[in-house]
Amino acid sequence: MSVKLSTDLITIATIKKLKEKKEKFACLTAYEATMAEKISNSGVEIILVGDSLGMVIQGHDSTLPVTMDHLIYHLKCVEKGNINSHIMADMPFMSYSTDHLALENATKLMQNGAHSVKIEGGTWICKLTSILAERGIPVCAHMGLTPQSINRIGGYFVQGRDINKKKALVKEAKALEDAGASLLLLECVPDDLTAAIVENVTIPTIGIGAGKRTDGQIMVIHDLLGVSCLEKSPKFVEDFLKNSSSIEQAISNYVKSVKNMSFPSDRHTFF
Ligand code: KIV
Repeated sequence: MSVKLSTDLITIATIKKLKEKKEKFACLTAYEATMAEKISNSGVEIILVGDSLGMVIQGHDSTLPVTMDHLIYHLKCVEKGNINSHIMADMPFMSYSTDHLALENATKLMQNGAHSVKIEGGTWICKLTSILAERGIPVCAHMGLTPQSINRIGGYFVQGRDINKKKALVKEAKALEDAGASLLLLECVPDDLTAAIVENVTIPTIGIGAGKRTDGQIMVIHDLLGVSCLEKSPKFVEDFLKNSSSIEQAISNYVKSVKNMSFPSDRHTFF
């Protein structure tokens, strides 16, 4: 038996090289095989099997009801359709509430097709990040607006506007890099905070509602196709299907716009 390794699979090393070359990378969520195939085929570097599935697939008003079983089901579907994108899997609410649970659940995700995992939080996830990273699991730390903490935050709004919170987030980002995070995802933060974080870390950064200064951008596929379940789309969302003749073209236009830095524009950015 010969084991085939895909030579063109996008890895964390590929993403780091893109950053070194100052080439922007594109990320999108996917939850099933057909869309994952189209996304991967369009040159999207990272596919996130996000716990946003709780909202866009299951119809909940938050990501909290998503379980490990749900995530693994959708991860397996995405893996079937994926061609060569890096697959990142979200760790659902409470699936990393202790070190032991984090290790057990991250292992399950990696054994079911993920190439990395994403966890939400700041300083408190530093130890978890080290534990996973030391054991070979690449971690993307999700900061800023962290939807799993929506009940504590009190709403989906911009984070890190006041100077103390800004300073704390810049410090936390560096602490997460030092703990071994491979990637940082910034959600809904003002442009100057993104700039401060990006300048202060060496690992690749991904943004959603964080302006154009991150190394990569991410969007929820439903938002990109203009089928958001929200009554009013957030400022940072762009419907790429509106000016495209097919889903494939909409995804390609998103990838092009991220790479040539026309998306996100000031219109999509919090200042
Ligand atoms: O679950 C998700 O889709 C996410 C993105 C919004 C970044 O975390």
